[in-house]
Amino acid sequence: MTTVGASAADGATRHDATSLEARFQRNIDRDRRIEPRDWMPDGYRRTLVRQIAQHAHSEIIGMQPEGNWLTRAPSLRRKAILLAKVQDEAGHGMYLYAATETLGVDRGTLTQKLIDRAQKYSSIFNYPTLTFADVGTIGWLVDGAAICNQVPLCRSSYGPYARAMVRICKEESFHQRQGFELLLTMMAGTAEQRAMVQESVDRFWWPSLMMFGPPDDASPNTAQSLRWGIKRDTNDEVRQKFIDMTVPQAEVLGVTLPDPELRWNERRGHYDFGAIDWDEFTRVVGGDGPCNTQRLATRRRAHDEGAWVREAASAWAAKHAERAR
Ligand SMILES: [Fe+2]
Ligand SMILES: [Fe+2]
Repeated sequence: MTTVGASAADGATRHDATSLEARFQRNIDRDRRIEPRDWMPDGYRRTLVRQIAQHAHSEIIGMQPEGNWLTRAPSLRRKAILLAKVQDEAGHGMYLYAATETLGVDRGTLTQKLIDRAQKYSSIFNYPTLTFADVGTIGWLVDGAAICNQVPLCRSSYGPYARAMVRICKEESFHQRQGFELLLTMMAGTAEQRAMVQESVDRFWWPSLMMFGPPDDASPNTAQSLRWGIKRDTNDEVRQKFIDMTVPQAEVLGVTLPDPELRWNERRGHYDFGAIDWDEFTRVVGGDGPCNTQRLATRRRAHDEGAWVREAASAWAAKHAERAR
């Protein structure tokens, strides 16, 4: 008797899960937002946590390459702009960690995973910033690539993520423009400054194209993410959009993009481009880029040095909760 009862209950649960999932997918297909208290499949939650955490980590680690130039910016104006930008990136990290908290995973857990190398961040931040022109190139290319990636995410199916993206994109747009303006200023300067910009663009162009992730035929999660409305475009589509947008800007700047195969294809209505070195991408994402060790060591040290702040904040919160009771 017990066995029969149990299997009937299992059948009912399975049936409920199927209808819940069908309703969930219907909502997504009708372009409705999923909110934290709505039912969602485990895989959807897991994919979102992984993607948002990776994004949050990238914002936080991304503060390091540019933070490197804060004390050596060539003027007070450039220092103020750079400081504002680096602070924005910290804010982006915080919005995104807050978005993962609505999915039941707290920031402390995710930070630990980052430090333990159990979660990744964007490969681009493992490249060094060797000259001040890199500040401009990062704004122009890296924040430019981030915008291409993130604008479609403002329509992501998960409400808190989509709303965080709206604000982040507005700030990324400022980042991209300040980078372009810095490079434009340098290109109007001395021959040495122009050479500095060109050398920087030569180093950052290909890693920027890798920011969109592996090609579609090597990206097994893309199809499901598109079905769930977590992603809106494939990696290759967004990469092409970025290239099409950036080539005319390079012409305005007067820099050469380091790809001899880059040319307009009238038939496709897009720029053709050369082969990306995916071995390099795999190496850098896997931990063997020029600055991986340094980036994580800096993050780990900052986390350790901040322990007293976390303890003090927890003690303060506990005291106030006690008083409120
Ligand atoms: Fe950002
Ligand atoms: Fe940015």
